Amino acid sequence: MHDQLQQIQNELKDQLQQIQDSSALESLRLKVLGKKGSLTQILRSMGQLSAEERPAMGQLINKAREDMTARLDEMAQKIQASEKEAKLRAEKLDVTLPTPAPRQGCQHPVSLVIDEVVNVFTGMGFEVVDGPEVELDHFNFELMNIPKNHPARDAQDTFYFDDNVLLRTHTSPVQARTMTTRKPPIRVICPGRVYRADEVDATHSPVFHQMEGLVVDEDVTMADLKGTLDAFAKRLYGDDIRTRFRPSFFPFTEPSAEVDLTCVACHGKGCRVCKGTGWIEVLGSGMVNPKVLEMCGIDSTKYSGFAFGVGMERIAMLRYGITDMRMLYEGDLRFLSQLRAD
Ligand code: PHE
Repeated sequence: MHDQLQQIQNELKDQLQQIQDSSALESLRLKVLGKKGSLTQILRSMGQLSAEERPAMGQLINKAREDMTARLDEMAQKIQASEKEAKLRAEKLDVTLPTPAPRQGCQHPVSLVIDEVVNVFTGMGFEVVDGPEVELDHFNFELMNIPKNHPARDAQDTFYFDDNVLLRTHTSPVQARTMTTRKPPIRVICPGRVYRADEVDATHSPVFHQMEGLVVDEDVTMADLKGTLDAFAKRLYGDDIRTRFRPSFFPFTEPSAEVDLTCVACHGKGCRVCKGTGWIEVLGSGMVNPKVLEMCGIDSTKYSGFAFGVGMERIAMLRYGITDMRMLYEGDLRFLSQLRAD
């Protein structure tokens, strides 16, 4: 048994010389010290020894185990160190190599235009306010002077959740929300998403963007509305752009006007974009209907106001010469990444 022990130790020494990697080392360890290992076999055969022989043999075996464990551990450390070094060498990076140019993202044309329009109006002292897209019938229609059964409701094919809750069909409910919570002077704009049950085509989408503008103060007149929108058009498209106001109708404004701009494509000469007229329609506007002021708790004998609503997709399409609205929503990066703010 004594010799056997010696032999195991010698064998381990020899075999350790040949070990190259940690998995080979582990199998060697199991071969000697594992459950079925050679040292364990010797321990098992201790039963054959006499009671007097056992303690001395036990000590020898323990000593041999310690000794071999130490050798194995020492080798494990060496192998780990060399494996780590090999790994580091294999993963060496040349930090001086040039990197591929990072792909640059870009803003969506509708976002670009919203930022631009917001900039123009905040420059004139307007404040940006927000409103919910899931809106109450009360704000979207009732306070905008569009009671139930009013024909104007048909013009805006509405997505309803139930009798009272809907997806807002325009940004005008933010007018009502603002007037019911603030006192004049009010000077706000509200860009945001609106929804109408329209079929998708070159000029329609069930989701699009509008921007609402609202001014309420003492002595606000139609001249203020015209001046503000004229300044807006010139800031956005250039000083040679003129505005034209045509009588129109909205239940929430009285009087109401559609606003045309000099065609930005041909500068008034007449082209395909303006269908030869030299003008393009971009805005709905008017003086806030005194009835709306009153419903929102504002004294219409003391205050007056104007409001306007403009479609952001329309502005973006004119700005970038886009002829089909669908291009704005299809997410084709080859198209979108060509359009940048200037
Ligand atoms: N809310 C109107 C629309 O969606 C636009 C508008 C806003 C008109 C404000 C007048 C005043 O068509």
